[in-house]
Amino acid sequence: MRRRTFLSGSAATAMYWRAGPLRAAGAPLTLTAAPLTQQVLPEEYAGHTALIGFNGSVPGPELRAKQGQPFEVRFQNELKAQTAVHWHGIRLENAMDGVPGLTQAPVSPGDGYTYRFTPPDAGTFWYHSHHMSHEQVARGLMGPLIVDEASPPDVDHDIVALLADWRLTEDGQLSEDFGNRHDMAHAGRMGNYAKVFLPDLTVKTGERIRLRLINASVDRVFPLIIKGLSGQIVALDGMPLPTPRDPEAPVLAPAQRMDLIADVTGSVELEMEHRMGAYPLGTVPVSGAQPPRTDEIPALPANPAAAPANPTRTLTLSMRGGAMGGPHDGDGIWAFNDVSDMPDAPLARIARGETVKIRLENDTRWPHGIHLHGHHFFELDADGTPGDFRDTSLVNPLEARDLLCLFDNPGKWMLHCHMLSHAASGMRTWIEVT
Ligand code: C2O
Ligand code: CU
Repeated sequence: MRRRTFLSGSAATAMYWRAGPLRAAGAPLTLTAAPLTQQVLPEEYAGHTALIGFNGSVPGPELRAKQGQPFEVRFQNELKAQTAVHWHGIRLENAMDGVPGLTQAPVSPGDGYTYRFTPPDAGTFWYHSHHMSHEQVARGLMGPLIVDEASPPDVDHDIVALLADWRLTEDGQLSEDFGNRHDMAHAGRMGNYAKVFLPDLTVKTGERIRLRLINASVDRVFPLIIKGLSGQIVALDGMPLPTPRDPEAPVLAPAQRMDLIADVTGSVELEMEHRMGAYPLGTVPVSGAQPPRTDEIPALPANPAAAPANPTRTLTLSMRGGAMGGPHDGDGIWAFNDVSDMPDAPLARIARGETVKIRLENDTRWPHGIHLHGHHFFELDADGTPGDFRDTSLVNPLEARDLLCLFDNPGKWMLHCHMLSHAASGMRTWIEVT
């Protein structure tokens, strides 16, 4: 069985990501969205793929901010379409959240917008279009945003690994069937070519790396196989784990992130578990060796999050619809509590400082990754104790999960499925914190 790519039997070569320089010394950081062409498929497939991206590359440049220090980006829209930039997972000021129609007007072609915020948390985040995002993210409007700790952990390399999933035609162009009803009602826009974008570098065995995995795909859940590393998960969705954990069968839903600190034991290979077998996503080549480290994998310093109190109430978010799903009263393919799409009134108005339990009930046949803007929440374990602190929670078909969230950030915050095709076809609502 040939399984190197979904498209044909040809070997996938590692694809590297060469974003141009961000700015001239002293000039403000600029992010320009514009059409571009890029080799997405391995080199032996002729033809550049027409995409849209930031600063001439997909993914966009690796932006680096410092924890607790002001960060400013001058965004310029050189697309033919409206857009806006959302800073996924950053607990920022509402006006900077980049959601057209809720926190700002869409940025028209030829116009710009200046985003300014001071990230309170260090960690692995990302940025992406939040306008027609099921199409604009699929076309390439996404990139990594790393917020550095004041004193980062002692590693030899800090590597961003961004996962993407493409649906391409035989001549290597994006398939233009965006938003078709079949995708919307099922798992979303599943690609036929998946890969990980890695920086162009080699590592030595014995070196310690921090690997920052970001699932920037539109709809694909990645069950991952990671080879050539021995280490632990140190953060999820940008938030440090109090105690590092072994990476057993790691799964990343769209928008989720996972940081590993690990020692190189051989060629670092990332694969996706797939019904056709292990599917290679990309490799960090190894050359040379150094003596292995003997010190333990360190926990990252905690971010400054306040502890939630006892919940004042429970909000239920019942996911309904989709193919083979039960009926609902909403008028889209998907619904939250029988309401499809953004309602005029928020799902809830919550007083700043209130802790609320959110019950996610997946009454559908498909997994959903539910994302809340402007906050992180605790996923509650079966016995009700707070588990991981995340911004996106994966709920499998016919399962339920409780979240506990301290709503301490005032504003209008979206709550939606981050399978962006599902969001576009009904799974979107919002919460107002006053
Ligand atoms: Cu990654 Cu509503 O966003
Ligand atoms: Cu969904």
